[in-house]
Amino acid sequence: MSAPNSDFDPVRTSSLHPDELARMVREALAAIAAATDLDELKAARLAHAGDRSPLALANREIGALPPQARKDAGQRVGAARREVAEAIAKRQEALEAERDARVLVEEAVDVTLPWDRAPVGARHPLTTIQERVGDVFVAMGWEVAEGPEAEAEWLNFDALNIGPDHPARTMQDTFFIDSDGPEPSGLVLRTHTSPVQARTMLDRSPPIYIVCPGRTFRTDELDATHTPVFSQVEGLAVDEGLTMAHLKGTLDHFAEAMFGAGMTTRLRPSYFPFTEPSAEMDLLCFVCRGDSVGNPDRPCRTCSSEGWIEWGGCGMVNPRVLIACGVDPQRYTGFAFGMGLERTLMFRHGIEDMRDMVEGDVRFAAAFGMEI
Ligand code: DAH
Repeated sequence: MSAPNSDFDPVRTSSLHPDELARMVREALAAIAAATDLDELKAARLAHAGDRSPLALANREIGALPPQARKDAGQRVGAARREVAEAIAKRQEALEAERDARVLVEEAVDVTLPWDRAPVGARHPLTTIQERVGDVFVAMGWEVAEGPEAEAEWLNFDALNIGPDHPARTMQDTFFIDSDGPEPSGLVLRTHTSPVQARTMLDRSPPIYIVCPGRTFRTDELDATHTPVFSQVEGLAVDEGLTMAHLKGTLDHFAEAMFGAGMTTRLRPSYFPFTEPSAEMDLLCFVCRGDSVGNPDRPCRTCSSEGWIEWGGCGMVNPRVLIACGVDPQRYTGFAFGMGLERTLMFRHGIEDMRDMVEGDVRFAAAFGMEI
């Protein structure tokens, strides 16, 4: 029978030996000090202060000691564990402060950085000029009319007194729309905005005062002065007693609204099948004001030293067109005009190459500002 273990000396239990405890503490403190971040510290805590750490195991040994030996051993182990726990707490605090400082730097938001980096688009100047033209005429009591871009050949040509043999009907100028069947589609991409005249007259009775800005198409190659897709503004007035003087007054006002006050204009005789008489509206060159004419020392690029800039066609609506569109030419007369909007923009803003207008580079459009 074994005697009670009354003279058991805890110092002899190896894990409770002061030297052994001191070694555990040393190792724990070294690991804690070596932890460079919170994860490493966590690993050190598990290894040196966790349930299966040498110090925790030593603590468990105390229970096996005789009662009189427990106090002394308990104090020693307790002191060792406290020292380690305190070292962990201190290191934890230091590493958390370090992390917080780093996060503040790494995740800092510089509120002085520009915030509007997402580039905004810009409205195309052709769009804004169409609206501006509409505004000029609406202010005079006119209306803005519309028509389809794929237009009936009859409205694009026949109704406007452009017979089947007219050169404008040949394949040269016109995009014809294919049909599914053996019959032709009867549709073209409108070569001008003039069919809107015919549509409007067929649709309602005079008095008529309309403008129609819109897109038009011709089989031209794209170069500095031509584009197969371009824009025009059509104007039509049909009423009792309208004369060429009304036409001239209207276009003079339109020219000043587009290019500024004090424009000098002239009507030059011309020919269009749908007007009689017909004219071209010219603007006195606003760069040289005509001074370049016959003056080789001062050539003008804007008007090619001609003194005048051709702006668009106009005239009194041909009675044949009135009749084709159901308007009584005995009672009513009308005037009409059609201006190219690309040309208008080029004169207004000194744009030299039409391609800039069709390429869709937002930097071109943005230069015109956010006109709405
Ligand atoms: N439609 C003509 C063209 O495309 C422009 C034009 C000339 C329109 C005279 C008119 C006009 O209304 O009266 O060249």
